[in-house]
Amino acid sequence: MSKLKVLNAESINKLLDMGSVIDVVAHGYGSKEDGSGVIWPMIYYEFETDKADMDIRSGYLKNQGVYGAKLLSWFSGNSNNGLPELSGTTMIYDAKTGSPKGLVNAAALTGLRTGAAGAVGSKYLANPKSHKLLIVGAGNQAAFQVLGQINVLPELTDVSIYDPIDSDNAVKFAGNLPDILNQKIMNSEKVSKNVAEIKNRISKINFSAVSNIEEATKGADVIVTVTPSTKPMLKLAWITPGTHLNTIGADMEGKQEVDENIFPQAKVFVDDVTQATSVGETQTAIKKNLITKSDVTEIGKLVKANKKNTDFSGITIFDSTGIALQDISAAGLAVQRADQLNLGESVDL
Ligand SMILES: NC(=O)c1ccc[n+]([C@@H]2O[C@H](COP(=O)([O-])OP(=O)(O)OC[C@H]3O[C@@H](n4cnc5c(N)ncnc54)[C@H](O)[C@@H]3O)[C@@H](O)[C@H]2O)c1
Repeated sequence: MSKLKVLNAESINKLLDMGSVIDVVAHGYGSKEDGSGVIWPMIYYEFETDKADMDIRSGYLKNQGVYGAKLLSWFSGNSNNGLPELSGTTMIYDAKTGSPKGLVNAAALTGLRTGAAGAVGSKYLANPKSHKLLIVGAGNQAAFQVLGQINVLPELTDVSIYDPIDSDNAVKFAGNLPDILNQKIMNSEKVSKNVAEIKNRISKINFSAVSNIEEATKGADVIVTVTPSTKPMLKLAWITPGTHLNTIGADMEGKQEVDENIFPQAKVFVDDVTQATSVGETQTAIKKNLITKSDVTEIGKLVKANKKNTDFSGITIFDSTGIALQDISAAGLAVQRADQLNLGESVDL
């Protein structure tokens, strides 16, 4: 049996740059469209303990010859004991032999592939001349979202951060963002093709915290929502025509970040129709019969047709709930690069 490559967070950060992850995630969406990418039903379990859950997402990328699964655990009490709230593993297998190929730190990979998902949304739907980005949420995922957006929106001048429950955190986070982003870029500089370009873009951006969400929403060209909110935070009346939204935070039943009345007014794209309409941001608009599944298009259709939006007169939404093809494609790239660069540990099972 071939050896299993084990990659910890440090290796993942060295092996995967945001630009490449955006490419493989887009490819994963496209493969779902043409049938060469398959996802299997998600498993979700809430533990009896206070605020702890786990989910398993799995799928198969036929053209890459890999299939696999991610098991991600979230234990909210861990922060009291100095442990990370989010932890997990992604396993990928060789589709010719069934042999395990890679075991990867899933928390590190999740940040990158989720940032890349938001970036694919903006790459295909947002006005490439967008100047103002608003991020709603200043937690674990937020910096990855900012980095993803900077990769695909070359004319960004302003990045505003809004934390719905902790305005001090938004101020601290916005102040630290240039360093956080530059650190992420430098971690993967050996494999990245656009280090200088992205550093240059970051140096030209004004990063700030905002406390007035109505004003910030009205002034934004692109908005990313990335919180575990269960109540809408952005109202339809605040969204100006031409705005693109990436809704990332809602990935379970009951979560909601934006007014469901935005959906009938917008062109709606999702990663997976079944998942987005049951656990994504789209769930509420569907439950309230404001839209039907036929109003929702998978983003893989645009990727596969290489067709970017060119009509910026209305509102666009990309609702990303997170699918296994993102994890498997990114893990596959990490393992391939680790073999080439002799990084990580190779284990005989
Ligand atoms: N779509 C995907 O693929 C994907 C991937 C990873 C995480 N997520 C989801 O993204 C969300 C954010 O993840 P994270 O790891 O950055 O979370 P986090 O807990 O690190 O940060 C969340 C941010 O939201 C704020 N917040 C916390 N509770 C809130 C509430 N009830 N209402 C509004 N704001 C609140 C926090 O102050 C913080 O700014 C979660 O819902 C997570 O499940 C989605």
